[in-house]
Amino acid sequence: MRGRWANLALVVLVPAAALSGVGLFLVGSGPVWLVAVLHAGLGLGPLALVPWKKPVVQRGLRRMRHGRTTSLVLTWVLLAAVLSGLLHLVGLTGQWLAVTTMQLHVTAGVLAAVITVVHAVQRPVRVRRPDWGRRTLLRTGGVAVVAAGLGVGAITTGAALARAGGRRSTGSFRLDDDEVPVTQWFLDTVPTVDPQAWRLTVVSPLGEHRLSLADLAGGDEMTAALDCTGGWWAEPTWAGTRLVRLLPDIDRELSVVVTSSTGYARRLPLSDDLLLATSMGGSPLTAGHGAPVRLVVPGRRGYHWVKWVERVEVVAGAWWAQPPLPLR
Ligand code: HEM
Ligand code: HEM
Repeated sequence: MRGRWANLALVVLVPAAALSGVGLFLVGSGPVWLVAVLHAGLGLGPLALVPWKKPVVQRGLRRMRHGRTTSLVLTWVLLAAVLSGLLHLVGLTGQWLAVTTMQLHVTAGVLAAVITVVHAVQRPVRVRRPDWGRRTLLRTGGVAVVAAGLGVGAITTGAALARAGGRRSTGSFRLDDDEVPVTQWFLDTVPTVDPQAWRLTVVSPLGEHRLSLADLAGGDEMTAALDCTGGWWAEPTWAGTRLVRLLPDIDRELSVVVTSSTGYARRLPLSDDLLLATSMGGSPLTAGHGAPVRLVVPGRRGYHWVKWVERVEVVAGAWWAQPPLPLR
């Protein structure tokens, strides 16, 4: 019965760990540390179940049933997810390798959740009445307390090991302005945009306008943290034109869709602090960093900071009416 309970706990814990990891990608400001502690607790929780899962594994391995390879792959992938999470936590980010620790972590984490479901389908467990008894509840509470302790411990250790001000609650580590790497979401590649020929199409209830770079010499500046889901952040000063300057008298309840010349797009609330930047850290943007114009979105993770901006369109409806993470 205890083995069955451990299996049921795992089928909840592992997908929940992956979901909370996605949650960490969605929050860029506010009480991010709460999500981080939750993720660390859910991610380390399976370790607390080892004493109960071990006999199940040993029995299963003796039986040599169909689906054994899936179980073994799951064990390694889950270990890879936990280990890569911990490596990133202590600062081994692999930032200059072909694949960063965080990219490895997300891949292993998503795979672990999917394979857990496959394994649970291959080894179905029926919930029975005694599973909800007092002892089970006590054991579940005990594991929850251990998982929460591991989560708090992990986050506190991570904070203690990082240099002061070097680590954000999202888990990202600080880079100097001149170290900011060129990264894109999945399939996006760096386009070459001719700044002379470049035009920005602005569509709003006021009509459609086409602007050139000279029209964006607004002289606005702001210092904002670009926090990449790759696991790093930097806080240079950005200069350009606040987006709302191009949209005077537009209802702030509306949303804005910002699209790049590669077709990548994000929908955002039309707030005063969106900046169409042409320079970063006092130097003109390079192609890799979004030249000639990229969006700066204070308080949100890097995938909202659309590069190579080509079109800005004011739309009705909420900003969150889009896939929570870009799909391409
Ligand atoms: C089964 C799936 C997963 C497991 C077991 C897992 C486990 C862990 C562990 C043990 C850590 C180190 C402790 C911590 O810093 O929180 C961690 C960190 C992290 N994980 Fe996961 N994770 C999983 C899936 C994911 C996914 C799918 C994502 C993102 C889409 C993600 C994003 C992160 C981030 C951003 C950190 C760094 C947080 C920080 O250092 O404070 N994880 N994970
Ligand atoms: C997520 C982490 C998990 C890991 C790493 C894991 C790993 C394993 C391994 C290595 C075995 C032994 C080989 C085999 O029988 O295939 C096994 C057996 C088993 N697993 Fe899992 N498992 C996990 C989660 C689950 C879940 C969520 C369920 C069901 C809801 C489950 C149900 C079972 C059952 C019933 C057996 C025993 C099969 C038998 O005695 O013949 N496991 N698991």
